[in-house]
Amino acid sequence: MGYFFSVGGCILSLLLPLPTATAKFVLFDNTKPAFDTEGRILDAHDGTIQRFHKDGPYYMHAVEYGLCQAPNITGCDSPDRCGFRLDHNLSVYTSWDLSSGSWAFQGYAFPWTERPAGTLFRPSAVFNPTTHEYILWWNYVYPNGTYAGFAVATSSKPQGPFEQRRAQVNIAHLPAGDFHLFVDDDGTGYVLYSADFWITIEELTPDFLGVSGRAFDGFRGNGSEWGFEAPVMFKRKGIYYILFGPMCCFCYQGSGIRVYTATSPLGPYTFQGDDIACASKGTFAATAHTRADNDGPIPTPEQGCLFYGTDQISTTRAQQNFVIEVQTSGGETEYVWTGDRWMQSPDGLKGHEPQYWFPLSFDEQGRIERVSWIDLFVLDVADMTEEDEALPLRVSQS
Ligand SMILES: *[C@@H]1O[C@H](CO)[C@@H](O)[C@H](O)[C@H]1NC(C)=O
Ligand SMILES: *[C@@H]1O[C@H](CO)[C@@H](O)[C@H](O)[C@H]1NC(C)=O
Ligand SMILES: *[C@@H]1O[C@H](CO)[C@@H](O)[C@H](O)[C@H]1NC(C)=O
Ligand SMILES: *[C@@H]1O[C@H](CO)[C@@H](O)[C@H](O)[C@H]1NC(C)=O
Repeated sequence: MGYFFSVGGCILSLLLPLPTATAKFVLFDNTKPAFDTEGRILDAHDGTIQRFHKDGPYYMHAVEYGLCQAPNITGCDSPDRCGFRLDHNLSVYTSWDLSSGSWAFQGYAFPWTERPAGTLFRPSAVFNPTTHEYILWWNYVYPNGTYAGFAVATSSKPQGPFEQRRAQVNIAHLPAGDFHLFVDDDGTGYVLYSADFWITIEELTPDFLGVSGRAFDGFRGNGSEWGFEAPVMFKRKGIYYILFGPMCCFCYQGSGIRVYTATSPLGPYTFQGDDIACASKGTFAATAHTRADNDGPIPTPEQGCLFYGTDQISTTRAQQNFVIEVQTSGGETEYVWTGDRWMQSPDGLKGHEPQYWFPLSFDEQGRIERVSWIDLFVLDVADMTEEDEALPLRVSQS
């Protein structure tokens, strides 16, 4: 970037460097759980991780499942309802660089006793640029096991406290499963969700408290198929991506990632082809991480990468959680895929189940390349904690 002006007949050019931040090289270790600033294993799952301001920290809004013993069978067959408790908290953490040990607990979005009674899952937080409010949706099931719906709360601050505005949103397909909110560059909001074998996208009303009626009914499995879960939506270089995987109810074996792309948020979407995280045994996945099975949890038949009777391995050993947009010091964006590794906690406690993180690669057409297992990776995360130093001016005389 150059600014040119003339002083006393000679042209001075003040060359300002691009506004780059200092690089901080952060090591991510998938062989260990992540920790908060107090040295506790992060009990934070099913959530969203994002920056709301270009100079601000990353905010995580995620579920605290609690330190109950995960079942010693398949993940959802919990005799004491560990994973389905009524007191799941919706926690808010911040971090400047996403590293293990950097996550500072900011509080709960609201006390669990002040939300509608039930089991809370998979919250999604976004900023509404029209109303300037932070919007939080979550999914819940009544204590009697009947599906309740999506509830909505708002706050003027990302860390809350959040105030409930809707106990239920009238979406097109009920009962719905997992979902994710997405805000486009023009400020329009969308909810992507799975329900009754459908993956659906609905446009939100301008206040993001409900749906407008414009919808895209994308992908329907057939009646003999299990449903899909854990959808995530993001945009990169003008392409809209939705990623989801076969149902995986706290499934030990982990699930896959199916990629669909479009040039407009309500589609039509094109399947990229082939699951990028389920792989045949003995082929690609032979190099994947295989955790030594202990005598505790067992895989859930027909779910995750065992979907529809297939006998594949999940290269992530996880179910999709979120795709984090990470700013690098050079002003680029890295897309870090994150997934929950259900039933794989080091001490058998539900809340200590770790995550798998992986930086996605895209080819020239924007296709996402296969996701493999890596123990470690290093990422250049722009350091936003430093005060901007006075930009050096280079003066050249001509
Ligand atoms: C949620 O927070 C409350 C209050 O701190 C606590 O009593 C409860 O155990 C927490 N729930 C879980 C699942 O950890
Ligand atoms: C379950 O609880 C909800 C909320 O109280 C109620 O509306 C619903 O009718 C109940 N369902 C059954 C099957 O009892
Ligand atoms: C249902 O979907 C599965 C997997 O795509 C396919 O193999 C099967 O033939 C389909 N069944 C019917 C009845 O369409
Ligand atoms: C799980 O159950 C098996 C079979 O009863 C037992 O051998 C094992 O010790 C149990 N594991 C845990 C972590 O409780």
